[in-house]
Amino acid sequence: MGEAINKRVAAEVAARIGEAAAGAASPMASNSARDRALAVILREHRHLASVLILFDAQMAEIVEGNKAADFTLLATILCYIDAFPDRFHHPKEDRYLFSALREAAARHGDAACIDLVDRCANEHRTSARLLNGLERCFVAFQARLPAATSAFVDACAAYTRFHLDHMQVEENDLLPRAIALLTDAQWADIAAAFEANEDPFRGGESRRAYDNLRRRIIDLLPERERAVMLQAEADANALGIA
Ligand SMILES: [Fe+2]
Ligand SMILES: [Fe+2]
Repeated sequence: MGEAINKRVAAEVAARIGEAAAGAASPMASNSARDRALAVILREHRHLASVLILFDAQMAEIVEGNKAADFTLLATILCYIDAFPDRFHHPKEDRYLFSALREAAARHGDAACIDLVDRCANEHRTSARLLNGLERCFVAFQARLPAATSAFVDACAAYTRFHLDHMQVEENDLLPRAIALLTDAQWADIAAAFEANEDPFRGGESRRAYDNLRRRIIDLLPERERAVMLQAEADANALGIA
């Protein structure tokens, strides 16, 4: 069961990232606060997506019997997934993008947009719950408990699908509403927040820490997979300001 789900998710992921990247390419032409903010948001989405794709592909290979589980690699991937969305990316969206868009939507009487922001904010809370389940499944998988492999594979597929759906809604629905409704001053605040390196909860240069963690994941990979991840990094960085 897990095998079929993982293959399907991996194919969907690749298609969606291609679609989103094509749509995202054009707004990056100028150096306005809006375009700089969008570049960082999209780049963070690409970084997370590339690690999720890798995670999903690793689990598919393990289930198919093509490789043994590399627990150091899987644990490093989980460290990244544990921190990057819920401690770095989502808080910036909640505090700056979503709050500004809620205010602008209320000012314009756009109730559908307020519902959309609420949906995305609720999904941020769901993300943390899914992560707890994923990490419990990983511990059971590592302990080789009965049925732990299929439970972990299914949890991986569900987590990957959830985040891709979430990012797709943000890119296809929420960001276009933000482009339509937010003022230049609001974009300036959002750009400043997203361009800052600080982790909102921990302080310090955590953007660099996340880049380093992704680099460690890439270094743990065999040559062919490393080349794919390095290309994904290059594509993400080409979206905006390094
Ligand atoms: Fe989000
Ligand atoms: Fe996002």
